[in-house]
Amino acid sequence: MLATSELGMSFGKKRLFEDVSVEFSPGNCYGLIGANGAGKSTLLKILSGDIESTEGRIIKDKKTTISVLKQNQFEFDEYKVIDTIIMGNKALYECYAERNRIYALPEMSEDDGLKVAQYEADYSEMDGYEKEADAASMLDELGIDSSKHELLMNQLDASEKVRVLLAQALFDSPDVLLLDEPTNQLDYKTTLWLEEKLTDYENTVLVVSHDRHFLNKVCTHIADVDFGKVKIYPGNYDFWKQSSELAHRQQEEKNKKSEQKIKELEEFVRRFSANASKSKQATSRKKLIDKLTPEELPESVRRSPFIQFKPNRKCGTKIVTVNNVSHAIDGVPVLTDVSFTINAGDKVALTGMQSLSKTTLLQILAEEITPDSGSVEWGETITHTYFPKDNNTYFSSETSLLDWLKKYDETLDLQTLRGYLGRMLFSGDDALKKVNVLSGGERARAMFARMMLLEGNTLVFDEPTDHLDLEAISSLNDGLNQFPEVLIFSTHDFELLHTVANRIIEVSPKGMVDYSGSFEDFVNHDVFKKKVAQIS
Ligand SMILES: Nc1ncnc2c1ncn2[C@@H]1O[C@H](COP(=O)(O)OP(=O)(O)OP(=O)(O)O)[C@@H](O)[C@H]1O
Ligand SMILES: [Mg+2]
Repeated sequence: MLATSELGMSFGKKRLFEDVSVEFSPGNCYGLIGANGAGKSTLLKILSGDIESTEGRIIKDKKTTISVLKQNQFEFDEYKVIDTIIMGNKALYECYAERNRIYALPEMSEDDGLKVAQYEADYSEMDGYEKEADAASMLDELGIDSSKHELLMNQLDASEKVRVLLAQALFDSPDVLLLDEPTNQLDYKTTLWLEEKLTDYENTVLVVSHDRHFLNKVCTHIADVDFGKVKIYPGNYDFWKQSSELAHRQQEEKNKKSEQKIKELEEFVRRFSANASKSKQATSRKKLIDKLTPEELPESVRRSPFIQFKPNRKCGTKIVTVNNVSHAIDGVPVLTDVSFTINAGDKVALTGMQSLSKTTLLQILAEEITPDSGSVEWGETITHTYFPKDNNTYFSSETSLLDWLKKYDETLDLQTLRGYLGRMLFSGDDALKKVNVLSGGERARAMFARMMLLEGNTLVFDEPTDHLDLEAISSLNDGLNQFPEVLIFSTHDFELLHTVANRIIEVSPKGMVDYSGSFEDFVNHDVFKKKVAQIS
């Protein structure tokens, strides 16, 4: 079992939550939700023992095993795939690794022999061999066949590594499984696999996600981080949404009624407090007023940023032309013979099942990488700005957010910079925060501020909604709808695809399909369905 007692967390003056006493029980899957920057990742880190809370404590049995989905794809580069998974169970891995170390010695002493016999016995006792077989079959389910199990992690591609890390987290069914936005990095098939695993999971799961569909599928409970608290509600996301809105409305109604009553009582007190015969009544009504003071509705941290991109100038006639671009990564093709010309007013959604193909094409357009063959020619009137899928390199320093933004336009004064940050919900001291502590959603907002400041007339986005809360997603949707010039973006957000795109370019390692029209028409178009099937 896992619980918290009067848990509180602050960073300096900023308090994320306080007095949180909640329990997470086996068999339940808790969807941890809340605004960007509310403290979800921080709570997971406290529960896993990664960082300490400023108040209160965690209650758990000594035996409780907790497993965390690792975010750093490179962490296990020097280890074999199968070993990386077994590391999911620390005790078992120690025994396994020691045993293998001794076996690998050129010569074994008598002492080594005794030790290894003991490790063997312990390993069997812990069902090591069965678990090793389980690990292998989990890898197979995830599409990593046995020829790869003995490879080093650094020999796998990024998507395979993510799947191995997922298998590591789930290995040997830990008592508590902690997942922080797992679906962002997963392909569609793996997401379905995870949904199934979580639905059947017999122990405790806490999963942070901004994806309503995913939350509705897997969660038995919702843990909402807001109003300086963490509150648990039974039911899935939609149920939470409806019931929390209802509760909020009821509280507002109650407050309205109290306010009306208070007005009447105050009127009575005002009229009769000087009147000796009524003064007793007036005093008792005064007491009643105190009792009726409406409960203060606590302030939510859910707020909407104001995302608006203004181009520095209109695009000229030539925007960008892509000529016969092909590219491979580690010898494996990701793009083949991609050619297209972007026209004024194009809002291009880049689609396709292989996210690597889309990301690579966007990186080539952003001139971050040069293709193996072919070329990209940008028009002279074009300023293109880029929102990468992985923004780690932008946020590794300890500079303050304000200084960080200033770097992108040294001529801007403090007030203007603060204006950009304020619209992205960084006001007051928040603008002085070090960029390396920003949460996932805060980083995305900082990147929007940077793009707004750069005033590009062609905006390139790779999965901009990945870390955003619902408020920010809908602001981004508005911002993109109102952008008058050219957009090229990839997204798994259906609303963005449906409302923003007027041209679809589907890419795969085998080729491309180019369609002028809405996403809806594209997916329902018989001829284009066939064309897409040919490159899938
Ligand atoms: N070491 C730190 N020092 C100061 N502030 C911090 C530190 N670590 C995190 N924060 C701040 O605490 C807040 C909560 O961060 P956290 O990463 O838990 O948010 P989150 O709920 O996971 O948000 P997101 O949905 O964007 O991932 C953020 O405002 C973040 O900037
Ligand atoms: Mg987070």
